[in-house]
Amino acid sequence: MKLIRREFLNKLGIGSLIALFAGQLYMWIRSLFPNVSYGKLRRVKIGNPQDIPEGMTFRNDLKVYIFRERNTFHAISGVCTHLGCTVNHVNLSRPKTVRIGDRDIEVRSEFHCPCHGSKFYGEGTNYTGPAPRPLDWIELEIAPEDGKLVVDLDRKTTKNFKLTV
Ligand code: FES
Repeated sequence: MKLIRREFLNKLGIGSLIALFAGQLYMWIRSLFPNVSYGKLRRVKIGNPQDIPEGMTFRNDLKVYIFRERNTFHAISGVCTHLGCTVNHVNLSRPKTVRIGDRDIEVRSEFHCPCHGSKFYGEGTNYTGPAPRPLDWIELEIAPEDGKLVVDLDRKTTKNFKLTV
């Protein structure tokens, strides 16, 4: 009887060690794969162009700012080019003229990053803080099948791309 009990306790101990080791191994392997999806970003229909409000609309699900001026649209990514925080759109109390490249441009709004203080002019150019480059402009198109406005986050475009419908 004593022998059976000892044998049982030995097997229980070994089983526990194996279970502990397997658990640790699983946790270690799991830590190699972060809980972030790096899959292909989506191409999203955001609605009929005439239903998009005039001015600025932020799509939090896409982290994209959509701008409408009558029949003309453009989109700027809300993802900070430093470490990816979402930038806030800030209307300036009065317009200011800034030199961007070799041109003087009047800006009425900016983007401010709440994480490390980067700031971007309203057309996306970074001018202070650690962000290494401007915000991305996202290409817009009209879906041929139903006329809806489409944002494709995989398609960055040149600054000042505008879609007129
Ligand atoms: S993530 Fe925007 S400044 Fe760092």
